[in-house]
Amino acid sequence: MKKADKLLIRALKGETLKSPPIWLMRQAGRYLPEYRGTRAAAGSFLDLCYNPMLATEVTLQPIRRFGFDAAILFSDILVVADALGQKVGFEEGRGPVLEALKDGKDLAQLGLGKFHQHLGPVYETVSRLRADLPKETTLIGFAGAPWTVASYMIEGGSSRDFSKAKSWMYGRQQDFAALIALLVEATSQYLIQQVEAGAEVLQLFDSWAGTLAHNDMRLFSLEPTRQIVANVRAVHPEIPIILFPRGVGAGYLDFAEAGVFSALSLDQSVPLAWARDQLQPRVALQGNLDPQLLVAGGRALRFGVGHILNRLGKKRFIFNLGHGIVPETPPEHVAELVKLVREGAG
Ligand code: CP3
Repeated sequence: MKKADKLLIRALKGETLKSPPIWLMRQAGRYLPEYRGTRAAAGSFLDLCYNPMLATEVTLQPIRRFGFDAAILFSDILVVADALGQKVGFEEGRGPVLEALKDGKDLAQLGLGKFHQHLGPVYETVSRLRADLPKETTLIGFAGAPWTVASYMIEGGSSRDFSKAKSWMYGRQQDFAALIALLVEATSQYLIQQVEAGAEVLQLFDSWAGTLAHNDMRLFSLEPTRQIVANVRAVHPEIPIILFPRGVGAGYLDFAEAGVFSALSLDQSVPLAWARDQLQPRVALQGNLDPQLLVAGGRALRFGVGHILNRLGKKRFIFNLGHGIVPETPPEHVAELVKLVREGAG
């Protein structure tokens, strides 16, 4: 099948469809027993990310089971920090643990010297996937947006209040700007290589954009992601790029007005009628079912799906969650969701 005929690409182009394409953030993961099996065989989570054969396998698992319209490369946003030279690990039950950047001296240790060599296995996973995926499935490559990745690099892991990252933003402006600039350059190059390896669509995850004051959001979420889009499109003018600026509320309008993103991924707090009237005329939308509804299943799930389909409908829309699948999700509920969306539960 030609790329232009794939359902996800047709939705991004604004075609009216019988039912929207569907894929789910974190569709490969711990809620699937087969993922847990491969993950145990790989050793650590990062070993899995850097093993092209096993990373390809876990990317394909949810496609085999549910027949989603898109597959997302199995990796993590923090491989970029790892490839820039910062030690990254993942601890069971704790999530990512990094050797936190303390100051400009730590930052100066990082660089692009071994970047592509380090990420070679990820590019290889992308090309294997292009060869192995069903013809109708769109392959999505991805990266974290600079603010979200910078926050992990400065905090040393997940954070409640982002106090260290914001102390750089407000008190070490030069170091913070240098870190964001480094991430813009690294992320642009990383995404260009993914496209060259076979990615057909890209998604940028700015999971913590919603923690920023509106003006800071424009400076450190909108501006860097806009620059990345410009850098990638300078090499690949046609590549569709979806942005997920999670939690920005009315700020979604700023991203829609920027006019450069192919689609915006909405978190579950965004009002559907507002999104339909204010955002969808300007940009394709993706979202935004509450991941906990997928845990609940049943009537609540059917109602939630119908609500979204009725409002965001069949044009310029990709069905997804408002954030990633949680490990407690019963796989049967995911199968039910795909059926509901394809049958038009609206
Ligand atoms: O299926 C997919 O969506 C593709 C793979 C993918 C993962 N992480 C795998 C993963 C993608 C696209 C991501 C993105 C990611 N990683 C984000 C942005 C999206 C979001 O969820 O907000 C962020 C913030 C991260 C950083 C990260 N990775 C955290 C905070 C954690 C720990 C929390 C958790 O869920 O365990 C991870 C680990 C991680 N990334 C897992 C998976 C499958 C679980 C690790 C394991 O299997 O042990």
